[in-house]
Amino acid sequence: MAAIRVAIAGALGRMGREVARAVGQDGELALVAGVVRAHPAVVPAEWPARVPLHVDLAEALAQTRPDVLVDFTTPTVVKQNALAAVAAGVRPVVGTTGLSAADGADLAARCAERRLGGVVAPNFAVGAVLMMQFARLAAPYFEYAEIVELHHERKLDAPSGTALATARGMLERRGRDFQRAATPTETVAGARGGELGGIGLHSVRLAGLVAHQEVLLGTLGQTLTIRHDTTSREAFVPGVLLAIKRVVALDRLVHGLEHLLELRIA
Ligand SMILES: NC(=O)c1ccc[n+]([C@@H]2O[C@H](COP(=O)([O-])OP(=O)(O)OC[C@H]3O[C@@H](n4cnc5c(N)ncnc54)[C@H](OP(=O)(O)O)[C@@H]3O)[C@@H](O)[C@H]2O)c1
Repeated sequence: MAAIRVAIAGALGRMGREVARAVGQDGELALVAGVVRAHPAVVPAEWPARVPLHVDLAEALAQTRPDVLVDFTTPTVVKQNALAAVAAGVRPVVGTTGLSAADGADLAARCAERRLGGVVAPNFAVGAVLMMQFARLAAPYFEYAEIVELHHERKLDAPSGTALATARGMLERRGRDFQRAATPTETVAGARGGELGGIGLHSVRLAGLVAHQEVLLGTLGQTLTIRHDTTSREAFVPGVLLAIKRVVALDRLVHGLEHLLELRIA
């Protein structure tokens, strides 16, 4: 069987480099292009010299004809990148967070029109996907919930895509909002965090962290805490490779790694 041809947008970013290394070591995959915002003065030694780096995505897709475009860029360009891929008949595998629900629906519609596979996953780490599913399972049995997500200081969006997906999944399963304790005096504005459907959302940004999340649920006389820690970006790689291999057999956009792992709790 021919290798699946893979292009990476955000090729020289932290995730882009991890994915490039892993794709290069996988016999079922071939790295054919990298897309960067600007050509670096010096190409990092770890980037394979035979694989071209492009600044123009459309040109990269036309010249190298990938089967899949993996996107680990920024919230401002991810939607246009994914739509450009679909328009060129290339399946998007999107790891970049910050896509709105409307953007996701738009992308799903474009994939459906072309009967093209796509994967959007706010978190490619299996443990994080399990955390989201456990939180979903627990949601009907607790009246109060708070999500604390903790990331490195350079993260551009808040709350994280994982926190949002966790909250949405919990609310979907529960079928109604959580209770939110009123705080008549908020001495420092924002101390209670953001809120979605009664779930408190708190975003910590701290040098030294990678990606961490705690879901706290409470009801009379008991609390439940579900925590996941990503200690290195290697955690995301197996999920990304799985998505690349599975997306070529799909004819629609799938939102969340849980659908590829058959982990979803109804
Ligand atoms: N789904 C998951 O499991 C998962 C896991 C980790 C991270 N993420 C998300 O993935 C994204 C990237 O994370 P990261 O840690 O790799 O960030 P990063 O190190 O900042 O990498 C982002 C890369 O995208 C490049 N870029 C920006 N605009 C571009 C464009 N128009 N075309 C091509 N490349 C462009 C940046 O280039 P410059 O440096 O030149 O601007 C940079 O190299 C973030 O949204 C993060 O939240 C998701």
